[in-house]
Amino acid sequence: MPGGGVGLVATADTGRIEAPVTLKAYLMCAFAAFGGIFFGYDSGYINGVIGMNYFITLYTGLDPNDPKFAKNADPGPDGFTLPSWQKSLVVSILSAGTFFGALIAGDLADFTGRRTTIIMGCGVFIVGVILQTASHGYGLMVAGRLIAGFGIGFVSAIIVLYMSEIAPKKVRGAIVSGYQFCITIGLLLASCVDYGTQNYTDTGSYRIPIALQMLWALILAIGLFFLPESPRYFVKRGKIDRAAQVLGRLRGQPRDSEFVQTELAEIIANHEYELTQIPQGSYFASWANCFKGSLWEQKSNLRRTILGTSLQMMQQWTGINFIFYFGTTFFQDLGTISNPFLIGLITTLVNVCSTPISFYTIERFGRRPLLIYGALGMWICEFIVAIAGTVDGGNPATVRAEISFICIYIFFFASTWGPGAWVVIGEIYPLPIRSRGVALATASNWLWNCIIAVITPYMVGTDQGNLGAKVFFVWGALCVGCWLYAYFLVPETKGLSLEQVDRMLEETTPRKSSKWVPHSTFASEMGLTDKGVLDPVIIEDVERKGSVV
Ligand code: BGC
Repeated sequence: MPGGGVGLVATADTGRIEAPVTLKAYLMCAFAAFGGIFFGYDSGYINGVIGMNYFITLYTGLDPNDPKFAKNADPGPDGFTLPSWQKSLVVSILSAGTFFGALIAGDLADFTGRRTTIIMGCGVFIVGVILQTASHGYGLMVAGRLIAGFGIGFVSAIIVLYMSEIAPKKVRGAIVSGYQFCITIGLLLASCVDYGTQNYTDTGSYRIPIALQMLWALILAIGLFFLPESPRYFVKRGKIDRAAQVLGRLRGQPRDSEFVQTELAEIIANHEYELTQIPQGSYFASWANCFKGSLWEQKSNLRRTILGTSLQMMQQWTGINFIFYFGTTFFQDLGTISNPFLIGLITTLVNVCSTPISFYTIERFGRRPLLIYGALGMWICEFIVAIAGTVDGGNPATVRAEISFICIYIFFFASTWGPGAWVVIGEIYPLPIRSRGVALATASNWLWNCIIAVITPYMVGTDQGNLGAKVFFVWGALCVGCWLYAYFLVPETKGLSLEQVDRMLEETTPRKSSKWVPHSTFASEMGLTDKGVLDPVIIEDVERKGSVV
């Protein structure tokens, strides 16, 4: 029988769309956040590795014991450091790979499923890591980072999609913030491992931090084998029976419970509604759908695609990765710091400890206030660092003050824009373009991540622009842009189901969005009910359409 005998209740009671959720169900949703670990670890380990003596000697032939590299000697253009172009390439190539990986993953997630795509990403990543571990020269290292980047692109784009689709709406923001938390833990682990191996005088110095990453990929892939696929994927593919089954597992309820049926009816009705607005066609037509509609209408696909991609661009413009990618060498170049690795470790710790605040605040105050006040806090700190460094840069007391304000800046990032950008991109797209929308937004994150990784060594390298602390004028100005952007363009999605977000975007503007309350459900409005039960003819229709998507 179509729908496997699922009788779907549709109701106009907008508050009851989701079931009370069991602890096991919460834990299932939260496990996927683990994917953040290797996003963070892989971004982070390279920062320390490019500052390691053994690594620098291997790549440049320079001798760290040469008196001209003694502590407090002016590093100048001949410092004991990799040339800027090498730093730039080896760091940024990963983001180039992730950019393309994220885009491909958007397609795969619709064809093979969200979960399967993430597991495939882990496989690709492991191949890249093996190459990097085996490398003893620049070429293989760069190739390995490129391939690992593809894998991370798969994982980083689809994890956010998967988590947003399986999480209960009341805690969706907190659960996706858990992903950000894992990114920060990944960065911290990378710092600790780098710290532990930095003085090794053999290839273990860089091979150990690199090889360890395989563990994260294995844990994620094995764990995901035991987790259910996203019910929204099954609805899109027209497999309503499977959708009911996995939704039941995710909510810790029997699949025919009223809660599960009501939530599913709303997902189906919304999808049906969206298909009337966004007809699916060929492969290219479905990509083109992401760019359809008016630029002036908030609900149009084009506007949502721009919102997601620009939000991730802005997140990178905050300048956060300047600290996490180049912090060690930046602090080294300041000259007065005796242990730049330790400072790198401290900044990473601040990042980890501040992120959990967002689990609460993102659900209590919402996405908008976090992004607005977070940007405000960041640009104030960045300008203080820039001004202090410009006026009194060489003074050790000033350097200490600068480091303190860098830490406060990281606190603001970690508790607001870090998680906020990921949470919002998981929420703003309608199902027919969701996987590609999230993929495009993630690709934008990596594209800007890459651009910043390429250009910053030239901006601050002692053999290049040598901007020093003045670089924070650039980040501060960009953060003012983030602040205005959040105020004028980001809608409030807190507490709404993904289907209600769709309705909210149609009916209100970003600045008024936090006052919007859901007033009806798609299922009831679309007249898809027959005495409270979704008509089997409709289920059959959804199944037929899904099988040709
Ligand atoms: C960003 C990364 C950054 C990390 C720092 C993430 O949200 O996308 O680029 O390295 O936060 O915690």
